[in-house]
Amino acid sequence: MSLNNKRPIDVVIMAAGKGTRMKSRLPKVLQRLAGVPLVQHVLNTAAQLNARSAVVITGHGADQVEPLALAPGQALAVQCMRQEPQLGTGHAVQQAVPALADDGVVVLSGDVPLTQAETLQALIAQCGGDKLALLTIDFADPSGYGRIVRKGEAVQAIVEHKDASDVQRQIQEVYSGIMAVPARLLKAWLARLDNQNAQGEYYLTDVVKFAVADGVPVVAHKITDALQVAGINSPVQLAELERAHQLRQADRLMEQGVRLKDPARFDLRGQLDCAQDVEIDVNCIFEGKVSLGEGVKIGANCVIANCRIEAGAVIHPFTHIDGEKLGVSVGEGALIGPFARLRPGAQLGAEVHIGNFVEVKNSTLAKGAKANHLAYLGDATVGERVNYGAGSITANYDGANKHRTVIEADVHIGSNCVLVAPVTIGAGGTVGGGSTITKSTEPGSLSVARGKQVSIANWKRPEKKPKA
Ligand code: UD1
Ligand code: CA
Repeated sequence: MSLNNKRPIDVVIMAAGKGTRMKSRLPKVLQRLAGVPLVQHVLNTAAQLNARSAVVITGHGADQVEPLALAPGQALAVQCMRQEPQLGTGHAVQQAVPALADDGVVVLSGDVPLTQAETLQALIAQCGGDKLALLTIDFADPSGYGRIVRKGEAVQAIVEHKDASDVQRQIQEVYSGIMAVPARLLKAWLARLDNQNAQGEYYLTDVVKFAVADGVPVVAHKITDALQVAGINSPVQLAELERAHQLRQADRLMEQGVRLKDPARFDLRGQLDCAQDVEIDVNCIFEGKVSLGEGVKIGANCVIANCRIEAGAVIHPFTHIDGEKLGVSVGEGALIGPFARLRPGAQLGAEVHIGNFVEVKNSTLAKGAKANHLAYLGDATVGERVNYGAGSITANYDGANKHRTVIEADVHIGSNCVLVAPVTIGAGGTVGGGSTITKSTEPGSLSVARGKQVSIANWKRPEKKPKA
């Protein structure tokens, strides 16, 4: 979804803070929620808003944050401005001034990942190009937050918790950290900030009193959904927000008809598209882009990433699938697992069976092919109805290069075979168990390549010597 703004909007994302309470070497805004760095959530929201540009204020960990923010593939223009040292939120936004035009600005924080674009759109509408609009919320426990001080209905000021009087500390309406404001006015107010307060910081929130002094209307857009303004300061808060977000994603899928055995034990770190009558058992993780066809069943404890699973396929418990960039596809009615591993480029046709401890990489298996036990298929082309025996492998790597193995239709590969690529097993052929096949075989042939069995009659085993 994207939204159309009448006037151009730029966003400023404050991301210079240290995040001491995370106790991590990784900058706070690079910690991940649903698999995505916090600041990337905020950039994605800005893109949904059709913002013209984002100015990211960096400081702590800037050399890690900036490469992500400036990575190719961002859906909007991004600039980074350094804030050294960090003298407060007002000082942070001051750094953005040279990068800002004179249109509307939305100020966001890099550690508040779940604000919805519609909410910001409503805030921008309240700003209307000539007012200061604050996103606010009532908290039962408002301690630590900036309080919204009103005279009647009109907003007079934001007073930070540490600067607030006892009476002001009773106020439950708090500033979320998000505002929409005309840049022209913001720039003038930022130039007037000082640090005469309890924390000796330049507070962005002081722009409210300048607006009031200048006769510019200050409006509060109050929301009730705390998740949208929740900031992350600690591993506990990160985990709480992750779970709340996952529950929302689970609810959305169930509303579409997906049957989750337990929404509290479901994790989506990417995009999951489900047709009708999909069932997902507990403790499954979906990453990247995954699509599940009609009636697909996913057993417990599966990790499934970058994969397309067609109708009626069943993925048994403890299966790991990751298509990475090449993708994985699983055909209609296929049976996979338990304990199977499908790697990039595994393309399985209809009714393929992949059993326990079988690994498939960069291989095509045609309709009805089966590899049911303890096997490896890498860089292989496998025909229809092939039966690939327990413990068999394709030796696809000669230490320098990868080579292909072709197994034509209706071949039967016995147990514990090594197919040394490049090699072709002709259609309908059979390979005897324990064979190491280094030369291609003719269609319809039986190939056996192993030491001949020797049996010695009445064999006496060595006897133990008596102890001296
Ligand atoms: C701020 C607000 C407070 C509001 C609260 C909501 C101010 C003065 N106060 O307080 O009214 O209720 O958010 O969460 O704005 N940052 C920088 N550079 C700095 C300081 C901060 O980039 O010099 C970044 C932080 O990394 C963070 C964001 O700005 O992403 C907010 O800073 P934080 O210290 O969390 O502000 P609060 O004191 O919580
Ligand atoms: Ca904060």
